[in-house]
Amino acid sequence: MKQIQIKPIKSFNKTIIAPPDKSLTQRAILFSSLSDRKIKITNALLGEDCLSSLDCAKKLGAKADLDIKNATIEIQGSSLKSAELFVGNSGTAMRLLAGVLAGQKGKKFILDGDDSIRKRPMGRVTEPLSLMGASITTAPNNKAPLIISGSSLNGIDYKSPIASAQVKSAVLLAGLSASGTTTVIEPLKSRDHTERLLNYYDVAVKSDEFSATVFPNKVQAKNTNIVGDISSAAFPLVISAAINGGKVLVKNVGLNKTRDGILRVLTSMNASYKILNQKTEFEPYGDIQLEYSSKIKPFVIDRPLIPLLIDEIPILAVLACFLKGTSIVKDAEELKFKESNRIDTVVNALKKMGADIKATQDGMIINGTGCLKGGATIDSHGDHRIAMSMAIAGAISSEGATIINPDCAAVSYPNFYELLK
Ligand code: S3P
Repeated sequence: MKQIQIKPIKSFNKTIIAPPDKSLTQRAILFSSLSDRKIKITNALLGEDCLSSLDCAKKLGAKADLDIKNATIEIQGSSLKSAELFVGNSGTAMRLLAGVLAGQKGKKFILDGDDSIRKRPMGRVTEPLSLMGASITTAPNNKAPLIISGSSLNGIDYKSPIASAQVKSAVLLAGLSASGTTTVIEPLKSRDHTERLLNYYDVAVKSDEFSATVFPNKVQAKNTNIVGDISSAAFPLVISAAINGGKVLVKNVGLNKTRDGILRVLTSMNASYKILNQKTEFEPYGDIQLEYSSKIKPFVIDRPLIPLLIDEIPILAVLACFLKGTSIVKDAEELKFKESNRIDTVVNALKKMGADIKATQDGMIINGTGCLKGGATIDSHGDHRIAMSMAIAGAISSEGATIINPDCAAVSYPNFYELLK
C-alpha cells in the first residue's frame, strides 16, 4: 500500500484559493442531468466523488464534456435510461441518486459503490423512499448495492430521525416525480444546498427552520458557478491556528449558515479571524483571514452544532491537541457512519501520535497539551478526511508522520499535499 512521509513544518504563511465545494458540484451535476438545457458548471471540483457523479450522470443519458484545465463541465440531461451505476466512495451520489431514480417509472437501476459505501447505512434513505411507494431491494442489513425498479411515487410528510442533508435531499428529489407534496422535517437543519440549487434551477422549494417542501416539478438547470468548500478550507485554517506565527488567507469560501459551524467554534475559541469580501450568488461566500493567537481556548461541540460542522470534526480534534485544556465533542454519533467510523479512526490515530484523547459513545474528549509528539504511522482507512487530518497532525507535530493510503485525499481535495510543502 502506498505511503507518504509528512515532515514537520515550522511556519505557515499562505494565500490559498479554497477548492470548489464537493456537495455543490455533485448536486449541480446530478440536478442538471434531469434538465434538457445545456449548461456550464464553472469552478467545478474535479475530485473523485464528483467524477463518480459525472460518470453516473453520463450512464443515465446525460451528455457531458469535462474541461479539466478550466475546471468546467458542460452538461445536458435527457430522460433517464436504465443503468448500472457505480458511485465509488460517494455517499452523496449514492443517496441522492436513490431519490432521483426511485420515481423513474418502468426503468431499472443498480446502485453500487466501493467497500466503504457497502458498509454504510442505506436504510435511512430506502425507508422513506419505500413509504413513498419506491421499489428498492438492498443487500442484507439495508446495505448497498441497491436495486431500484422505478415506480409511481406519492408525496409524504417525512419526519426524519436524523439531521442529514443526504436523507433530506433523497426524499425531496423523489418528491419531484411524486404525486402531491413532499415535506421533510428534521430534528436540526442540515445543509440546505439542495433547496438553494433547486430554487436556482426554477424548482420552488419552501423551507422554514426545520422543514423543506417540494411539489412535482421539472428541473430547469442554468449556468452554475461553484463556491469554495468550507470543509476543505478548514485544513489551512487549522494549520494557521495551531502553528505559532501561522497566517492564512483562504479565498472564495462558501459561507452558508448551515455549514459554518467551524467559524462558530473558532469564535468560541477566541481565534483571531476575519471574513472579507462577502458576496452572495445562490450561495454566500467570502475570504477568511486567520492568524495564530496564543489566546485560543479549548472548545465544546454539542448537538446544535453537529450538522453545521460534521465533516470538520476530525481536523478540529487535531487542533484540540494544540489547545491547552479539555475539548469535548458530544452528540456526534453520526461520525460512526461516515467514510470510516470517525470516532474510532480519529481517536486511534491521534493516540498513536501521542495525544491524550478518549473515545466516548457519541464523540471524544481531548486533553490538549499544546503540542503533539507525532512520529507514528497512520492508516487513512481509505477515508479522505482522516488522511488529510492526520497528515496535518503530522506536519504540525514534532516528529512528523507516515500516512498509509494517502491518495484518498483526492476524493474531495485534489493536490491537498501541496499545502504542506
Ligand atoms: C453531504 C452531507 C453530509 C456530509 C457529507 C456530504 C451532502 O452527510 O457529511 O460529506 O453533500 O449532502 P449526511 O447527510 O449523512 O449528514
